[in-house]
Amino acid sequence: MAAAPGRRRPAVLLWAAVCLATALAVDRSNFKTCEQSGFCRRQRGLQPGHSPYRALLESLQLGPDAARLQLVNEVTKVPLLLELWGLQGNVTRIRIKELNPLRPRFEVPDVLVAEPPVERLAVTGRDEGSLELSLGPAGHRLLVTEKPFRMDLLQGRELLCSVNARGLLFFEHLRQRRDSDTPREPTAEEGGAAEGQEETTGGTEDAGTQSEKPTEATAEAAEEPGSWEETFKTHTDTKPNGPTSVGLDFSLPGFEHVYGIPEHADSLRLRTTEGGDPYRLYNLDVFQYELYNPMALYGSVPLLLAHSARRTLGIFWLNAAETWVDISSNTAGKTLFGKLLDYMQGGGETPQTDVRWMSESGIVDVFLLLGPTPAAVAGQYAALTGTQALPPLFALGYHQSRWNYNDEEDVAAVERGFEEHAVPCDVLWLDIEHADGKRYFTWDPSKFPRPRDMLQRLAAKKRKMVSIVDPHIKVDSGYRVHNELRSRGFYVKTKDGSDYEGWCWPGSAAYPDFTNPEMRAWWASMFAYDQYEGSTENLFTWNDMNEPSVFSGPEVTMHKDAVHHGGWEHRDLHNLYGLYVQMATAEGQIQRSGGQHRPFVLSRAFFAGSQRYGAVWTGDNAAEWEHLKISIPMCLSFGLAGLSFCGSDVGGFFKNPEAELLVRWYQAGAFQPFFRAHAHLDTARREPWLFGEENVALIRAAIRQRYALLPFWYTAFYRSHRHGLPVMRPLWMEYPEDATTFAIDDQYMIDRALLVHPVTEQGARGVQVYLPGKGEVWYDVASLQKHHAPQTLYVPVTMSSVPVFQRGGTVVPRQERVRRSTECMRGDPFTLYVALSPQGTAEGDLFLDDGQSFDYETKARYLHRQFTFAGNTLTASSADPRGSFDTPAWLERVVILGAGKPAAVVLRPADGSETRLDFQHEAETSVLTLRKPGVRIGDDWAIVLR
Ligand SMILES: *[C@@H]1O[C@H](CO)[C@@H](O)[C@H](O)[C@H]1NC(C)=O
Repeated sequence: MAAAPGRRRPAVLLWAAVCLATALAVDRSNFKTCEQSGFCRRQRGLQPGHSPYRALLESLQLGPDAARLQLVNEVTKVPLLLELWGLQGNVTRIRIKELNPLRPRFEVPDVLVAEPPVERLAVTGRDEGSLELSLGPAGHRLLVTEKPFRMDLLQGRELLCSVNARGLLFFEHLRQRRDSDTPREPTAEEGGAAEGQEETTGGTEDAGTQSEKPTEATAEAAEEPGSWEETFKTHTDTKPNGPTSVGLDFSLPGFEHVYGIPEHADSLRLRTTEGGDPYRLYNLDVFQYELYNPMALYGSVPLLLAHSARRTLGIFWLNAAETWVDISSNTAGKTLFGKLLDYMQGGGETPQTDVRWMSESGIVDVFLLLGPTPAAVAGQYAALTGTQALPPLFALGYHQSRWNYNDEEDVAAVERGFEEHAVPCDVLWLDIEHADGKRYFTWDPSKFPRPRDMLQRLAAKKRKMVSIVDPHIKVDSGYRVHNELRSRGFYVKTKDGSDYEGWCWPGSAAYPDFTNPEMRAWWASMFAYDQYEGSTENLFTWNDMNEPSVFSGPEVTMHKDAVHHGGWEHRDLHNLYGLYVQMATAEGQIQRSGGQHRPFVLSRAFFAGSQRYGAVWTGDNAAEWEHLKISIPMCLSFGLAGLSFCGSDVGGFFKNPEAELLVRWYQAGAFQPFFRAHAHLDTARREPWLFGEENVALIRAAIRQRYALLPFWYTAFYRSHRHGLPVMRPLWMEYPEDATTFAIDDQYMIDRALLVHPVTEQGARGVQVYLPGKGEVWYDVASLQKHHAPQTLYVPVTMSSVPVFQRGGTVVPRQERVRRSTECMRGDPFTLYVALSPQGTAEGDLFLDDGQSFDYETKARYLHRQFTFAGNTLTASSADPRGSFDTPAWLERVVILGAGKPAAVVLRPADGSETRLDFQHEAETSVLTLRKPGVRIGDDWAIVLR
């Protein structure tokens, strides 16, 4: 739903601005550049090669878990504490904080799922200027150099990553304000956080020493205007703690390709930021975002991946404050030929990418994920932050949304439309207008007088509904939710201790403090059926505007000096706010079912770990071909950062799509994890049947393709939930050695079996599809024709084409009966598409459970089946004997791609009997279709081709 169209305009103009929405583009001046962000400017002012830091090697303490030693800034003399851990599974953690901070500094809670088990560290070498630590059994070693301080991480003789090699470690220690001529009242934040800290302020004298030595960057910072107060446009950020930023650089020799750090509307492969702004991570409600730039958007995951043909690495920078990431490369701007020439002439240096992280507050807490493969890095990140929650099956179906479905009659009419046009649909959505005056947890009494009846009518058709519940709460003494939040003291506070209020959809609004666990428990309790009146089991939730969006705030968000639970400033945890909203909402849905049912919550803002709570989408895009195109790299980048359940508004949120764009978007969206059409209030209605017979037929076909593949999607989500690999993934995750795949933005894999290249060009007659894998084969899912790889294949397209290829060597399960919704497909028979490798083998799996409860986890009620084709025999066995689940579903058909014509086909069920099966063989395409094996999908059996 919408960004704030009239963010800086008086409220009366808000609606006028909404109506002009289609004529506007992002107003860049609403958002800070690095130059306008004090700490970013200060940090960028520090040039490489001048690190004032020295490691006090003699201070090394080797504990049973960690190594600790001191760093000292030789100019200010402020000591820092460096802590090092070798974590199991090839992860090194580095933490740097002040040895004696004036006050505690924020350390990000609730993101790590567990403190991972540690490896024993050992000192394996030492001389006067350096120290070598071994980090565990995989042969990783860390070389710590005293002066200037740097660290080099090696495996054997290979240098994987250097830390502070460019000397950009930046640590603005907490200090007293020097200009005593402007005395201030202590703020609520200082009062709270400084309690009991007075005795331990070993660093206080440093504040005095630095004025004498203003030569060093941190000392200069204190001088710089903006260090203790910063004004952007009309907003002044008081900074009671002064400058508190941290920064560090990482050098990655051998890497030319880096990815991740969503959310940006940019190519999958990150670009160098030299000469421009760094990539920014600061959750913001950006109205009509621009493409291909590093501006911040709604969510942030501070995880960067580096990939080369030889290895994959990750850098996870655990900091929830505003963060900027600079990327530079020694090969930037050189063509492939230029690099080759360099290399042949012997003048070529090793390619290297340098990454610099800069955060406004908190500490340096970074995890180096050492791979070595893309899958290993995904697993390492998942071990830290958790995996994608397994969605309820319905959530993988098609979602129909717009701002707004007006009333109960409108909902009924839209639902009937799906029925009449035989288009499957699982969920109808209600945006902000459904609530009574934007008072969430309520219904507009004239438009939605009988929500329970409406929901029951949907339930009777086996459909669901999602209603929006945003975190801005209308300040209105007649509104129970507001009164409770206020009386319990659950709102975020201003620096002066009053409830923080801002302007948002309901007018004046306050913001529940989701960082407070008590507040979250209360919020969760609001989803109980007797608290959220009119709600039923088939009502789920959408958390929008949770950056949080504050129309009247700086950069359309909350003031950084607002104060949260525990006295922390909003500055410290801004990027975490949205995660907590989704966490508390998901918890509420679980609780309302007595812990039985899996939640579904869509969130616009997110942080590392948000994958544990539901789905995310790319926010308020536009009905433009370029926006359709960029949905692919954006969702791929989400997936690399653990957020598998990603989609973009089908059709585009702003503006009206022409029929061709809408159809192409449905076709693309059907092959993205979260599949929802959504539209702005001002756009023309665009339900699938409003574009003529021909187009509804195309859209129907696209949505039906989605439903037929749901068993495959669901199984992919299950494995993502177990192992942390993204469902939608870049080709290079499957073909890590194939450099051709490293910068591909227009095609991707779903799981390991399907390659998708949606048509995203207007008037396209054909697409160029790159089929990777030396010696592999691919089968066009539409024609079943076989193609050899690697090759770039020209695929002619018509309006009905969605180029999708099944990888030789895989088995894809489908359910091909057309139904109204996922719930209606329960128990339907399966078809297996067995795509043979050149060696005549294939394998795949199928996960099955009730699609909605936690029973798969708590009671082992599931089936995980394995299908293997080898030696002319297709075998069904259990992939996981721990699970069991009763289902009447049976095997209706087997389609074997790339098969010769057999003399006979024999089915051997587990009872040892043998039956002949009917079959049909198409010589031209080598497709063998076996009819009605009729065995139960949960049984063991074999089918032999003779
Ligand atoms: C750790 O790294 C070693 C060496 O690169 C590799 O053999 C091993 O599989 C990795 N372990 C994990 C859990 O990724």
